[in-house]
Amino acid sequence: MIKFTAHIDEFIKPNVVSTKINQAKELLPKIQADAMAGWFDLPINYDKDEFSRIKTAAKTIKESSDYLVCIGIGGSYLGHKAVIEALGNTSKTKILYAGNSLSPVELNKTLDELEGKDFSINVISKSGTTTEPAISFRIFKQKLIEKYGASEAYKRIYATTDKAKGALHDEAVTNKYEMIIVPDDIGGRYSVLTAVGLLPIAVAGIDIDELMTGARSEREALLSASGGAAAEYAAIRNCLYEKDFNIEILANFEPSFMYFNEWWKQLAGESEGKNQKGIYPASVINTTDLHSMGQYIQEGRRNLFETVVSFAALPNDYSVPTADADLDGLSYLEGKQLSFINQKAIEATVKAHLSGGVPVLEIEAPSITASALGAFIYFFELTIALSGYLLGVDPFNQPGVEAYKTNMFHLLEKPGY
Ligand code: PA5
Repeated sequence: MIKFTAHIDEFIKPNVVSTKINQAKELLPKIQADAMAGWFDLPINYDKDEFSRIKTAAKTIKESSDYLVCIGIGGSYLGHKAVIEALGNTSKTKILYAGNSLSPVELNKTLDELEGKDFSINVISKSGTTTEPAISFRIFKQKLIEKYGASEAYKRIYATTDKAKGALHDEAVTNKYEMIIVPDDIGGRYSVLTAVGLLPIAVAGIDIDELMTGARSEREALLSASGGAAAEYAAIRNCLYEKDFNIEILANFEPSFMYFNEWWKQLAGESEGKNQKGIYPASVINTTDLHSMGQYIQEGRRNLFETVVSFAALPNDYSVPTADADLDGLSYLEGKQLSFINQKAIEATVKAHLSGGVPVLEIEAPSITASALGAFIYFFELTIALSGYLLGVDPFNQPGVEAYKTNMFHLLEKPGY
């Protein structure tokens, strides 16, 4: 279960916080009933047939491919990349990502890596019309056909998309790609525990049953406490925002969580940043960034608060070795485990930033496992949905992302623009 602690006494009055927590708790049924809250009950009502098709597809890909090229952008790639980077890929099939930019430099790097290798494609787009993945899919599909011929190539394409509409859906039907369905009532950034995330995660050798179990247990724990720590976290974010703390920094002390930070930034930013409102989500990886952004966080403009992520236990550890002479002045640390020193760095950072006028929130998971990641995902999804509702915005739409697309299509002379 995820543990949440807030160091905010000197910033917000306790009665203000408790009123807001009650407001957050009252919003739970409204969120559950939202037409786009399919993720809310997903850990208990996910489609078991689809789940086992995903496992079968993952097995086929692992047996036939050195690489799986995952083509998608935004919510169609950040969630699974976050989980795979955090837990590591134990499969012989490596994952490559494409279609998340328009950079020819990145594209060529990925194409070079595929040279002489067996590969399959998982093209992921709920709408089936997003430009970046569509261009990328056309390119990688051509490579696949050049290598295997159309008939074998089409068997190596897995299309994760809408069940009824969109260009990708129509193409998948025409060419008979294996199609995996994104539920209608779950938007991209809330979709990591659907086929969108589960197929690549399973290919990476991660136990998707354990991931779902973690999400399910966290859901039970939170809902049995009317939102529990998620309601508390959402309420405190909102209280801080009302006091002009309008930047939240997610601080993680595990470098493999860099993409988890990215996933969270999309979840928070795209859900809340609308109607000229919302907390701006930023992130750091410490202790690395204590030597860069640490200066700003300690002494810069006081409009930010920090949410520190930690783990009660780490899967691997290492002790500081003994040395004959204390030339480096580290004898006082001999035999101490790195996890212990990292923990002291976390405590020291929390203390320093608090004394610098930064409200600090802490989130602790038991360990770095599939189950803990499932719990984290559910915890953050519920928190951000509640935060959006408290802020008075729709946390499930993203009208603002259309502006650049319209301009780009006009500049590219797309018919109709
Ligand atoms: O969260 C969202 O809805 C977005 O980030 C989408 O995931 C992203 O724009 C990609 O959309 P699609 O899956 O339709 O290609």
